[in-house]
Amino acid sequence: MTIDIETIRRQTPGVREVVHFNNAGAGLMPDRVLDAQIRHLELEARIGGYEATDREAMRIDAVYDSVARLTGAGRDEIALAENATAAWDMAFYSLAFAPGDRILASQVEYAANYVAFLQVAERTGAVVEVIPSNGDGETCPDALAAMIDDRVRLISLTWIPTNGGLVNPAAEIGAVARAHGIPYLLDACQAAGQVPIDVEALGCAVLTATGRKFLRGPRGTGILYMRRDLLRTAEPPTIDHFAAPWVAPDRYELRPDARRFETWENNYAARLGLGAAVDYALDIGIGAIWTRVRALGERLRATLADIPGVHLHDIGRTRCGIVTLSIDGVDPLAAKAALGEQRINVSVSRPSSTLLDARARDLPPVIRASVHYYNDEDEIARFAAAIAALRRMKGPRP
Ligand SMILES: Cc1ncc(COP(=O)(O)O)c(C=O)c1O
Repeated sequence: MTIDIETIRRQTPGVREVVHFNNAGAGLMPDRVLDAQIRHLELEARIGGYEATDREAMRIDAVYDSVARLTGAGRDEIALAENATAAWDMAFYSLAFAPGDRILASQVEYAANYVAFLQVAERTGAVVEVIPSNGDGETCPDALAAMIDDRVRLISLTWIPTNGGLVNPAAEIGAVARAHGIPYLLDACQAAGQVPIDVEALGCAVLTATGRKFLRGPRGTGILYMRRDLLRTAEPPTIDHFAAPWVAPDRYELRPDARRFETWENNYAARLGLGAAVDYALDIGIGAIWTRVRALGERLRATLADIPGVHLHDIGRTRCGIVTLSIDGVDPLAAKAALGEQRINVSVSRPSSTLLDARARDLPPVIRASVHYYNDEDEIARFAAAIAALRRMKGPRP
């Protein structure tokens, strides 16, 4: 399946305004994602918020089916959240740890995840250990297998880190987890919308993602998948009367499905936007998206590699649409600002968001240029020219 880029770009109003290479921050919404939200907000304003939810109940409910299709999960295994961190926290803090229990985590773990490990370790006496990476910079399944003993309670992986193009071997890590019956928590925040997801093939017990990045959904949306067997025992760290209906004065009953991790009140316009974004990605085909994103990412790297004074920092054998670079003598924040003046969007990835990896590789703050399938070759050329000009203007003389 190939992607009709012209049509896709016509359906993406933002491409007429900016060269958007900040998809790892938040992707540009297609117009149907925008419309789904606006329509619902207008309905709320016209007939009332609760009444709008009633009228759109089927569409709102169908968002779970869309996310289930995206991930290969059952709809009862899906919860919606306000971001990936809220989803991840709900799952992680629902697990019980005792002194000496081992949490094995990847070296590229996202900061929010790692500080939660540290907090739980402090509270419970569990220990956090880092799974070594192999020579290509990937979290190493063999090294993980060698670490397993009967104290390992959790294996955690950030599939695609926030700070670069690396795509970790998530299914291989899952195979080790499955072989030993250890819960596997997969942070798919930067993967969802870029890479095909099949929770069965990945072998994960939990998968979390955000709506706004490569899925091109609204801000303030997140996804939680929890496998049925874990759901049966997972006790949400906080509950309300939606997660756990109050059935007698002294008793509540936790919902049997993943929505035990949700609360009663929600932003339904955003949820409908998320559903529209997932459907849009599925209509295009995640396989086709993945092929194009990888190709554009490699093209961007190859183009930048030809510019003197530009250094690329992406590791791994399979690399995604996130491209990280630094320019000799050019402060990354100044570069971001200068590019912004030319309506080229990038972000800066700081060491503190992936501290272990940044320290291991002695990484400075880096410019993060993240492409998506709706970007094109002309935009890459424009970006490369802007980077070359920056280097000539601000960098040391070659
Ligand atoms: C790898 C990774 N995990 C988790 C998150 C957190 O996502 P959210 O901001 O939706 O909570 C991010 C956000 O940048 C991320 O890059």
